[in-house]
Amino acid sequence: MRRAVCPGSFDPITNGHLDIISRASALYDVVHVAVMINQSKQGLFAIEERIELIREVTAEFGNVEVESFHGLLVDFCKERDIPAIVKGLRAVSDFDYELQMAQMNNGLTGVETLFVPTNPTYSFLSSSLVKEVAKWGGDVSHLVPAPVLRALGERLTQD
Ligand code: PNS
Repeated sequence: MRRAVCPGSFDPITNGHLDIISRASALYDVVHVAVMINQSKQGLFAIEERIELIREVTAEFGNVEVESFHGLLVDFCKERDIPAIVKGLRAVSDFDYELQMAQMNNGLTGVETLFVPTNPTYSFLSSSLVKEVAKWGGDVSHLVPAPVLRALGERLTQD
């Protein structure tokens, strides 16, 4: 079984994330989506909500497993025998930090990082911008999957 992981905060998952996960799922037998638990940062969505949304929108791929993790990504990989991390690169500005993390992770356990160039349609896209635009009533329907759009609508009208 060839396994890879797509890690992130996914608060919430966007069409940009989904594009990378879908392309990884075509290349690997199993793709693990690892949702990072960040105790020092309260997200818009709880970890379980993020996981449910990711499960819903990746169900059609048939080979995606979604879990949370805390601590080091390399430990998540080691525990599951995952040799590769798949990351999207949106622009050159992503590269410096991603390269540092890839080199650090490789130095820690030998895990490889594969960079996939983001679909140019989503090169400006981030969860933070989606939340910002949605909060002020902007249209994000072309940027997130339908279940996420619904969840954003519900969450942002509650507050
Ligand atoms: O969606 P994000 O917030 O850009 O994802 C960042 C993430 C989760 C991929 C990165 O912060 C990470 O791998 N965190 C886990 C902690 C870790 O392993 N840190 C050392 C990296 S060299």
